[in-house]
Amino acid sequence: ILKLPTAAEVNEVGADLITSLVQTKPNAVLGLATGSTPVGIYQELIRAYQRGLVSFKQVKAFNLDEYIGLPATHSQSYAYFMKEQLFNHIDIDPEQTNIPNGTAADPHEEGKRYDALLESVGNIDLQILGIGHNGHIGFNEPSPALVSGTHVVELAEQTREANARFFEDKSQVPTHALTMGVGSILKAKTILLVAKGADKANIVHRALTGPITTECPASLLQTHPHLIVLL
Ligand code: PGA
Repeated sequence: ILKLPTAAEVNEVGADLITSLVQTKPNAVLGLATGSTPVGIYQELIRAYQRGLVSFKQVKAFNLDEYIGLPATHSQSYAYFMKEQLFNHIDIDPEQTNIPNGTAADPHEEGKRYDALLESVGNIDLQILGIGHNGHIGFNEPSPALVSGTHVVELAEQTREANARFFEDKSQVPTHALTMGVGSILKAKTILLVAKGADKANIVHRALTGPITTECPASLLQTHPHLIVLL
């Protein structure tokens, strides 16, 4: 657990971990996240790429989740977000960037397709995670039971409220999403959990020191043998 004094340092350390991995393993499989938390890390990765320190040409990327009902062209879809925030600015092969398809005719089948794809590349080398105020990781919301693979979830009201800031109003926030399950997340060789700001302090404390429970999905990370937490 690294407690750093500023968000800028969190971004630098987070990006350094990723660039070091890609320098030693150019065809690394990265698990990527959306939300506000990783944006600064992505900016540092773009800077490292522009300085010629790292190439993402052979990297494969898998994103955690996507809203159901938003096409990749929608400005609030995670497919769009990833292009804007990272993919359009580095040399990653667009064919190697994977995000669940939120407009698939059958989202349940899409979950299975995504899991098969994940399995075909082996494990994710490094998975970046943010944490929701309710302890969600990806869109795995607190629940009496959790699903292992990629699946459809109904978003918690708290999550829709938190994400309403990106939409005109809360009614526009999709009610459902496709998310990698906790099983897939925990299979990553290294997990990089990132949280910034005092508003995340309570949930981070609960997740890392409280009981391991599906009512706080991030608490399952306590069982992971190689978890790095950047605060
Ligand atoms: P945030 O979201 O990075 O926008 O705070 C994190 C999350 O909900 O997982």
